[in-house]
Amino acid sequence: MYDEQVVKEARAIHAELYSTEPTTVSYAPGRIEVLGNHTDYNAGTTFSCAINFGHCFCISKSNKPGIRVTAGDIRETFEFSATCDEKIDSYWANYVKGNFYYLATEHGIVIDGIDCTFLGSIPMGAGLSSSAALEVATTYAALQYAGKTIGEDISKNEIGILAQKCENVFAGCSCGLLDQFSSIFGEHHGLIHSDFRTLETYTVKLPDDAMFLMINPHIKHKLADSPYNARRQSCEKAATELNELVDYEVAALRDIQFEDFQALKDKIDPEAAQRATHVVWEIHRVEEGVKLLAEGNIEEFGQFMFDSHETSRTAFENSIPGLDIVVAAAKEAGALGARLSGGGWGGSVCALVKSAEADRISEEIISACKTKGVEPTIEKIVPSQGAQVIL
Ligand code: GLA
Repeated sequence: MYDEQVVKEARAIHAELYSTEPTTVSYAPGRIEVLGNHTDYNAGTTFSCAINFGHCFCISKSNKPGIRVTAGDIRETFEFSATCDEKIDSYWANYVKGNFYYLATEHGIVIDGIDCTFLGSIPMGAGLSSSAALEVATTYAALQYAGKTIGEDISKNEIGILAQKCENVFAGCSCGLLDQFSSIFGEHHGLIHSDFRTLETYTVKLPDDAMFLMINPHIKHKLADSPYNARRQSCEKAATELNELVDYEVAALRDIQFEDFQALKDKIDPEAAQRATHVVWEIHRVEEGVKLLAEGNIEEFGQFMFDSHETSRTAFENSIPGLDIVVAAAKEAGALGARLSGGGWGGSVCALVKSAEADRISEEIISACKTKGVEPTIEKIVPSQGAQVIL
């Protein structure tokens, strides 16, 4: 299952621009982060899912050297070589270039002489990881074009790590692996539990009568320009200081026991402790949340989502008023849970609802938000299958 419309359009645009049908086509979805905010780079755990919107990436052989890539929506093209590490002055091209670069330099898969087109249905800047989807779609298509088999020649974990490196180095955001893993390991109606210490993933079924709403208040954000990297440093500082206070190793915040953190947080740098409070609670909520979901208790699971937003707002300070207004409106309208999804400082709110109530709750959220000067748009999100090679 994938967004067929976007694949059809991408293929048509490619044929029109390059006067030939693509021979290789891939698709990778965006994601929502359900629980486990800013836990990935702390070696923690998360709950996320791939969504029913994604990017399609098409390739055909060219008789010219180099790699040409066109963003299908704006018809903008950049040309580069897979082995050149120079960054491109563009908001999208580095997400593509970086993947070709690391395939060449770290995996010996050097691709040259191709024309590419990509098109996505994920709104940019909405906090749905359009960049990770683009990275993963690029790598899946590149590997297929090079005749490599995913899972044999290169593992899915390696693809995630490669795409993350592209984001870290080429796009300048020190993000974790959540977005890439969600895009790769998605399953229909499954929530992905990822462990960023062991890099193991498994899915837990979302009850059939539940779904998510992605509520976008349209406040644009770019994580590389946000305090994201500074928050990461605060978390690392907290882990280093806690490591001195316990008789086991705290290599990352994941390692500090929940009770020890409560007892010791006043003994470390106050700002680092405040940021770490959110992360330590989030890891705890993910682990308790797994049990609740397995029992089908989505009501309590939803409450964890509200709790998560609260510590985002007060401790991690990665919310903004527009997102708080949406979360409050969702709660008032009867959503089971709602929280900011992803990095924060913009993006979208993810709300858990009973499917039968999705339309009513959406309408009520929109009208409640309007009275506060926020005009969100809402998409229904069904947890979806992860990245795939289509052709
Ligand atoms: C962004 C990053 C992820 C993760 C989330 C916050 O989406 O790209 O790696 O850190 O923020 O949980």
